[in-house]
This record gives sequence, structure tokens and C-alpha cells, in this order.
Amino acid sequence: MSKMEEQFNEWKNGLLIYKFALDEINTKLNILNEEFQFIHNHNPIEHIKSRIKTPEGIIKKLKRKELPITLANARENVNDIAGIRITCSFVSDIYKIYELISSQDDIKVISVKDYIRNPKPNGYRSFHLILEVPVFLAASTELVKVEIQIRTIAMDTWASLEHKIFYKFDQDIPDVLKNELKLAADTVCELDEKMASINKEVDKIKLTTSTPV
Ligand code: GTP
Ligand code: MG
Repeated sequence: MSKMEEQFNEWKNGLLIYKFALDEINTKLNILNEEFQFIHNHNPIEHIKSRIKTPEGIIKKLKRKELPITLANARENVNDIAGIRITCSFVSDIYKIYELISSQDDIKVISVKDYIRNPKPNGYRSFHLILEVPVFLAASTELVKVEIQIRTIAMDTWASLEHKIFYKFDQDIPDVLKNELKLAADTVCELDEKMASINKEVDKIKLTTSTPV
């Protein structure tokens, strides 16, 4: 086998554990969602999307961090090789999911960034966490990092559009558009608040109209 082929195989095997880690977290999330539906008659999770960063994406990030391109450096320094994005209906669901997943015995929370309580200057809102989950292989147990982004549907709509505009202008968005995007982010925030208050009203009405057993 050539040196090149050897390296290719090393990376291929090295990235496989990220797929296993995603499978594990996805199962955990689906269990929580179904249990929640069963007990509270409400799905906190609307949608889950997961992805593995491409080797090109990993190399790009290592270069940005000015680190030598090795699998060991990728595993140590690139925290979003395995990524999961969860969309919820309500902001309160986001914190619920965070609490439930982070309190599981085999999960270690590496870092939390709450861009909901502290939005980014451009208006970006989302809840980010980096977790570490053990993956049990035939010959070893590997601790694998997974990045989870949790947002409402409204936050996700804003982030998708902003992301597209960001790339359309080669990362240099004109000031007028920046202001417009920030205003749209404020509207998204108001929408989330409105949705939460409507939901509260619904719960109140359900409580007063439900017949006792
Ligand atoms: P990288 O950008 O991945 O290097 O991450 P970071 O170390 O700066 O971490 P952070 O938690 O701030 O961002 C992680 C991910 O969140 C990004 O890769 C994006 O997917 C998303 N994100 C962060 N900021 C923004 C933003 O301003 N707009 C959009 N659309 N997405 C963002
Ligand atoms: Mg990223």
C-alpha cells in the first residue's frame, strides 16, 4: 500500500467513529422525544439533522487554526466533525433538551455557548454545546466529540438566510443588509416570544376545560 493510500485509510477509519457517535446521540434524542410525547403529549423536537464534516472541511479548519494536518490534531482541535442540529417549536424546549441530554451518565459536556441569552452582534441566536460520548468498539472505547446546535424553527429560518447571504457576499455583507438582518433577527425574537405566550394560553385553556378523571 502506498503512503497516500495508508493515510487515506487512516482518515477513513478515524472518521467512522464520528458516525457511530452521531448514531448514539440520535438514538438518545429520539428516545427523549418519544418519551416526552408519551408523558406530556408534546414533541419538544421538530426536526433533527446530522452531518459529518468532509475531510476537506476538516483540513480547511486545521489550516485556519494553523495546525499540522493530522488525524490526531483533527480529533483534538476540530470540535464539529460530528454535528447535529435540532429544531424545536419553543425556546423552552431548547433548554429542556439541553438539560435532559447533558444529565445522562455517559455524556460529558465540554462547552456551552448560549447565543439565545447572549445573541451574537449580527443577531444570530442558537444554543450550542459540545458533548463527549463514549463509543464502544471491539478493541477500545473512544471518547468522541459532537457539536449540537439547538434552535427554534424561527431562529433556523434566520440562520439559513444569513448563511446564504454571508457566502453570496464572500463573507463581507454590505452594512445596509447587516442592519436589515439584525432587524429581522429582532423580529424572530419577538415571534418566539409571541409563540411562547400563545402556547401558555393554550395550556391554560386545556387545563380549565379538561374533564377530571
Ligand atoms: P466555527 O465557525 O465552526 O469555527 O465555530 P466557532 O468555534 O466560532 O463556534 P460557534 O459555536 O460560535 O459556531 C459554530 C457554528 O454555529 C458555525 O459553524 C455555524 O454553523 C453556526 N454559527 C455560528 N455563528 C453563526 C452566525 O453568525 N450565522 C450563522 N448562520 N451561523 C452561525
Ligand atoms: Mg462549524
